[in-house]
Amino acid sequence: MKVLILPDLQAAIARAADIIVKTVQTKPDAVLGLATGGTMLPLYDELAHRHRAGKVSFASTTSFNLDEYIGLSPEHPCSYHHYMQQAFFDHVDIDPARTHLPKGDASDPQAAADDYEARISDAGGIDLQLLGIGQNGHIGFNEPTASLGSRTRIKTLTRSTREANQRYFRSFDETPQYAITTGVATILESRKCLLIATGAAKAEAVARMIEGPLAAVCPASALQLHKRATVVLDAEAAEQLALRDYYETVHPDGRESAFGG
Ligand code: F6R
Repeated sequence: MKVLILPDLQAAIARAADIIVKTVQTKPDAVLGLATGGTMLPLYDELAHRHRAGKVSFASTTSFNLDEYIGLSPEHPCSYHHYMQQAFFDHVDIDPARTHLPKGDASDPQAAADDYEARISDAGGIDLQLLGIGQNGHIGFNEPTASLGSRTRIKTLTRSTREANQRYFRSFDETPQYAITTGVATILESRKCLLIATGAAKAEAVARMIEGPLAAVCPASALQLHKRATVVLDAEAAEQLALRDYYETVHPDGRESAFGG
């Protein structure tokens, strides 16, 4: 796992944007796995900015989002469909026909989940999977104890995840309890993973992901199994890393190491 520690939020977002832009420049028809949440908002702003500046085009890319709430239509203002439209798709040249999110309002959500998994595979798999991390160590909506072999399916959200997401809804009771999420195994099959964590609230989960045991109780720790996983952190999110000095020696200022390791 490459652990890149940047001095602050802005630098971390710029570094993550560099990695995404490089992927798309190298492979213009890349299949991108996208994420939502607060962490991604400045990243999507930065990517839109680089697009407007003529530095990157998403015209030939395909995207698959990690997750969607069950019971919310794409038009619902709190749906991840709506989030993606507002935060990213409306600001870049991605072809709407090639953007995909799980169908949260499907009459048969598990069939929709199975279909989603098949569509990822039909697209040739994901080239770069973007990830955030929950304070409880979730990736996508793979909550603690999610099977490390899981595929796209329905997950029940934990109380702590619902509390964290309540800020987007009118009340806790209105915050969805179920979501369709790509599985841990689906995520691990991506050719590259890029996880971004910023802020002190993520420091404990980040330390468990990178330095804790590989365990379903911290689904993000599954990235320890991935051959090409990069974690981009700001200084606050890196606060609890025991081997921080080592990561900063290998990747000074979050740069690639001289030998790529
Ligand atoms: C969202 C997702 C989640 C978030 C995580 C962090 O698509 O997959 O795993 O990345 O909950 O959310 P924020 O960035 O809001 O702290």
